[in-house]
Amino acid sequence: MKKVLKVVAWLLGIVLLIVAGVAAWINFAPAPTYDPPTIPELKVEVTPERVAQGAKIASMQCVICHTGSDGKLSGQILKDSPKAFGKFHSANITKHPDRGIGKWTDGEIYYFLRTSVRKDGRFATPAMPKFPKAADEDLYSVIAWLRSDDQRLEPSERGSHPQELTFLAKALMKFVFRPYPFPTEPIPLPDTANAVELGRYLATGLYGCYDCHSADFATNNALEPEKSVGFFGGGNPMLDMEGNVMPSANITPDPETGIGSWTEEQFVQTVKHGRRPDGTSIRYPMLPHTPLTDGEVKAIYAYLRTVPPVKNKVERPAFD
Ligand code: HEC
Ligand code: HEC
Repeated sequence: MKKVLKVVAWLLGIVLLIVAGVAAWINFAPAPTYDPPTIPELKVEVTPERVAQGAKIASMQCVICHTGSDGKLSGQILKDSPKAFGKFHSANITKHPDRGIGKWTDGEIYYFLRTSVRKDGRFATPAMPKFPKAADEDLYSVIAWLRSDDQRLEPSERGSHPQELTFLAKALMKFVFRPYPFPTEPIPLPDTANAVELGRYLATGLYGCYDCHSADFATNNALEPEKSVGFFGGGNPMLDMEGNVMPSANITPDPETGIGSWTEEQFVQTVKHGRRPDGTSIRYPMLPHTPLTDGEVKAIYAYLRTVPPVKNKVERPAFD
């Protein structure tokens, strides 16, 4: 009997050691790296049209996270990082050769925006969005803008702060989060004459409306957005700047719990200017998408009308 106990004790000890070893490895090893990828040969021609389109995309998709205390895109702590994940810090993406991305090639930036993998294989934290569905041309525009003479991109000396991740975030990055595959086919711009197609692209490919407006980031499907749980049905528990939960709204055509009864004009006012039909203002993290044209917002409205209605009453903090 004593012998059996001894063996059990040994086995338990070994198991505990392995568990402790794995835990230490997760905790202390650096963020996961992959084999250095094959970076595509790419030289983006910088044209005024591309710079303008890139500036428009960046104003809604990059600036909010990357603006630093010096007013340049030098990086900052993201105050609304989920507590379970730790503290995310965005990076210096100014033209500084070492502290920013001045030395990155167009191909490296392009590959990173698609996959979140850098040329040396280092994988970015999930706070940095990936753009697996954006049209090639729109990403070229972002790159052209990053090369432009926008003052906010002038070299900043500020060094990028390392991420401060919890054990959970580190474990997820090791075992769950994976880079998206680099597209094997060109991704064309949508047909702008087809409102539903344009709206679908803007809401699921470029501006990530579905990302915030489906049930949870954890169950979103970036490669096939329509397969995300509760697609556009709201309730994604996001945080405001004070760390309080501000769930996203149901924007499916369900007449009671979604926006089925909203007119096109009410939708445009809300999305572009942040004014809801009852006169209240939308709250962070939903930001007014002012740079979108009325035509683009109407296209999103037309597309959302084609999305299956989801019956989901989202309990939101009262408006004042
Ligand atoms: C929700 C916040 C957020 C948004 C929006 C965002 N980023 Fe980031 N970005 C981050 C974070 C956080 C990191 C650091 C990730 C890491 O190192 O793990 C990062 C890293 C980067 C890097 C890598 C820099 C380096 O030195 O390794 C580049 C390039 C970049 N972002 C460009 C962009 C561009 C261009 C856009 C807009 C199209 C954008 N980001 C939008 C949060 C964001
Ligand atoms: C960063 C996350 C995020 C993104 C991106 C986002 N939204 Fe929102 N949205 C929210 C949240 C959170 C609310 C709820 C805000 C509130 O209760 O004040 C909201 C509210 C709304 C509302 C108001 C609905 C209502 O019942 O009050 C509409 C309409 C809307 N979003 C449409 C869009 C569209 C269209 C896009 C893409 C162009 C978009 N959102 C992108 C998070 C987001």
